[in-house]
Amino acid sequence: MVIYNVLSTFSKSNNNTTLWKIIISTILSKWNSKLVRNNKSFPPCPKSWPIIGILPQIFTKNKSSFVYWIHKTMEEMNTEIACIYVGNVHVIPVTSPELACEFLKIQDSVFSSRPICMSAKLISNNYLTSVFLPIGDQWMKMRKILASHVLSPSSLQWLRPKRDEAIDDLVEFVYKQCINQQFINLRKVTRCYCGNAIRNMVYNKRSLFASREEDEQQVDALFTLLKYLHCFGISDYLPWLSMFDLDGHKAIIKKAYDIATKQIDIEVDHRIQIWKDGYKNLEQDILDVFIMLKDDNGNPLMNAKEIKAQVLELMLATVDNPSNAVEWTLAEMLNQPKLMQKAIKELDDVVGMNRLVQESDLPRLNYIKACIKEAFRLHPISPFNVPHVSVSDTIIGEKHFIPKGSIVLLSRLGLGRNPRVWKNPLKFKPERHLKKKKKDDGEVVLTDSKLRLLSFSIGRRGCPAVKLGSTITTMLLARLLQGFTWSLPPNSSSNDLLESSKVDHFCTLPLLAQAKPRLANNMYHF
Ligand code: HEM
Repeated sequence: MVIYNVLSTFSKSNNNTTLWKIIISTILSKWNSKLVRNNKSFPPCPKSWPIIGILPQIFTKNKSSFVYWIHKTMEEMNTEIACIYVGNVHVIPVTSPELACEFLKIQDSVFSSRPICMSAKLISNNYLTSVFLPIGDQWMKMRKILASHVLSPSSLQWLRPKRDEAIDDLVEFVYKQCINQQFINLRKVTRCYCGNAIRNMVYNKRSLFASREEDEQQVDALFTLLKYLHCFGISDYLPWLSMFDLDGHKAIIKKAYDIATKQIDIEVDHRIQIWKDGYKNLEQDILDVFIMLKDDNGNPLMNAKEIKAQVLELMLATVDNPSNAVEWTLAEMLNQPKLMQKAIKELDDVVGMNRLVQESDLPRLNYIKACIKEAFRLHPISPFNVPHVSVSDTIIGEKHFIPKGSIVLLSRLGLGRNPRVWKNPLKFKPERHLKKKKKDDGEVVLTDSKLRLLSFSIGRRGCPAVKLGSTITTMLLARLLQGFTWSLPPNSSSNDLLESSKVDHFCTLPLLAQAKPRLANNMYHF
């Protein structure tokens, strides 16, 4: 199959080539025999070149058209799993929920590692953190610290006042913009809120909106880092090219990294000194917790480098999904005002108009959560899940051979829009997530254990912050809807975000909207 594909590609451009065909056939059959080890068959593979695989496709296309190419090719091949050769790496994109569950549930231990890649190495300061680390002791140490000391139910409760301050600041800021009759750039506002919430939880710094330029710059830098984490980088597949930085990614990442970490470095160094000098004896935020953790011998469990790297990663993990989901939900609601009315009615019924929605109200805001879940399904922030790597050879779906070292890309886009699974997949329809049977109190959760959509993922590399991520996202949407009546700017016949997404899902315009206060004036001052 592979031989045929490549030969047919080649022969289209060269007709005079019996000799060439013999040479290529020889190279290919050697290459192919390596691939089909012991008669095991790989998932269907699109046309690719020997040795370099589909590297030319990657570098002749920009990131989003390459993502589009993968999905389109899989559609044409009528497959929900494929094997793409990138250099000598097997990349396995998956759009089937059943197979995705096999990867992350049944064979979770085989697929629990991460690839070595230039962007992750730089951003995690040489693999000190949790998200990007291949499986091993350092990953286990950092994941355990997060699960036990940062993301546990008691830690989340303890940090709640910090999140409350950030959400109150958001409401006040939007209110002031309304009074000044300014349009609201919802991308900016939602991203800033997420940055403020995590900053306040990590190092107890309440950053009022638009009051500190460096806070905004930090959030922008975080998004630059996220963009390049999700990119295909040439040196990840041909490591010997890394010193040349051919695609320029390294330089961009380094610059954004310096901006994103400037404030973190200062805060961490300063705080360590305060504890050393004995000026502090009470833990008040995540940074204090990190500094005061001790190992079995009573020595600090985390060194300064690890703390700084982990703080950066917490920020990266917090800013992207919640802001993206809320921006898209509001864009969809502006297009279908009935959805917005339904959400507001739920808020009025559950919370009323005489107090602001609180975290304790969230379990009863099922329609609001269904809207966010629908945004996760239809408009994921990234086309693929964080990559997983196989630590041994295995068979998936009873027939697909996946060799050790394969990079598995569960497609968030492909799962959430799979027409076999979802009726009318391109329609934003939150009702599909409302529970019909009153099982589990009918409470909507933002996770999907069957991976029909990939929000927080599952398994040992699944997101350890489901509760925190769900809370930040739901509060953000609930407060924006409870506090304000939203409309498109006058003379704007269409919703720019949705319009631009028709051209390129991942290169969209920010949502600009007009807001009017819905509540009594005294509700907006804290
Ligand atoms: C709506 C919000 C969020 C969503 C949708 C989300 C989603 C995800 C996803 C899809 C993964 C990768 C799972 C996999 O590899 O299979 C992940 C990993 C992770 N997330 Fe989240 N996340 C959210 C918020 C957060 C927050 C707020 C934090 C921490 C403050 C966080 C910390 C992490 C960590 C540490 C990992 C790495 C787990 C590992 O590799 O062991 N996430 N998240």
